Amino acid sequence: MIPKPVLIDTDTGVDDALALIVALHSPELSVKAITTVAGNVEVQKCTRNVLLLLELLKVKDRPLVAQGATKPLRQKLVTAPEVHGKDGLGGISFKKSTTRKTSLTAVETILDACNTWGKKLTIVAIGPLTNLAQAWKKDSKSLRKVGRIVSMGGVFRVPGNTGPVAEFNYFVDPDAAHVLFNTGLPITVVPLDLTHQIVLMRREMEYRAKRRASRLTSTILRLTKFYMQYHKKIDGFYGAYVHDPIAVAVAIDPTLVQTQNMHVDVETEGQYTRGMTVADFRKTSRHGEQTVDVALTINRERFLKLFHERLWK
Ligand code: RIB
Ligand code: CA
Repeated sequence: MIPKPVLIDTDTGVDDALALIVALHSPELSVKAITTVAGNVEVQKCTRNVLLLLELLKVKDRPLVAQGATKPLRQKLVTAPEVHGKDGLGGISFKKSTTRKTSLTAVETILDACNTWGKKLTIVAIGPLTNLAQAWKKDSKSLRKVGRIVSMGGVFRVPGNTGPVAEFNYFVDPDAAHVLFNTGLPITVVPLDLTHQIVLMRREMEYRAKRRASRLTSTILRLTKFYMQYHKKIDGFYGAYVHDPIAVAVAIDPTLVQTQNMHVDVETEGQYTRGMTVADFRKTSRHGEQTVDVALTINRERFLKLFHERLWK
């Protein structure tokens, strides 16, 4: 099997970290580059977190790491330290990383990847879409070469996680999401409607980590603790949603989810609805409107088997 070239665009918080571990442990993927974007925490911290994780995983053919947008296209940056910790990785201490990011920007790295791998490339966007929107504005011809963009974001028919009607990634940069949803690019959206169908309980994490005791598994336990305590306080379960690992799993095996093609746009001006994804579920075909593939159901068992196999490798 020839591994699929992948670029991951991330606002490296805790679930992003789990997603990166799964991706880097999956033989189906060849992670060529990781680009960072401000979101869960400031972009400098995201970059630091990616470099630390690459050291921890002792990755052989190390992907390029390129730093991206420090803030959304128009809005002021909103971060989520209450969810991921001030550092983005649950406040755990890491020894300083010796590896360095590339001098290329995230936008340059994204466009280079599109020109190098074209239709073979999948971009997994697990943070706000700022870098991708900037890449589109700079050189849409190159970005059009991408094979597929899998974007974790949005919420359609369940409550939001950033106010009542918005999901965090698209709330942070609604203008970037609006740009991407009007490009006609092949986008698969992985919304909260899907990611809230799966919860990882703390006791299962502890059981699996103990069974495969190592520096990596103990680090996974430590870096997820703060994030799980947040969900215990806010959502009433001592565990975690695994939003970003699900987006990576969709890149590994698209048959894990069932999608519906529809027109989606993102509210950029709403006083109460900033970042809300407005989807047209009506059956009538809407000529000339751009559409995306929205993943609404997942094969839970198959995802969890893949997730645990790769995470605890
Ligand atoms: O709403 C969940 C998404 O926002 C995840 O990607 C999480 O890491 C944050 O970026
Ligand atoms: Ca994320």
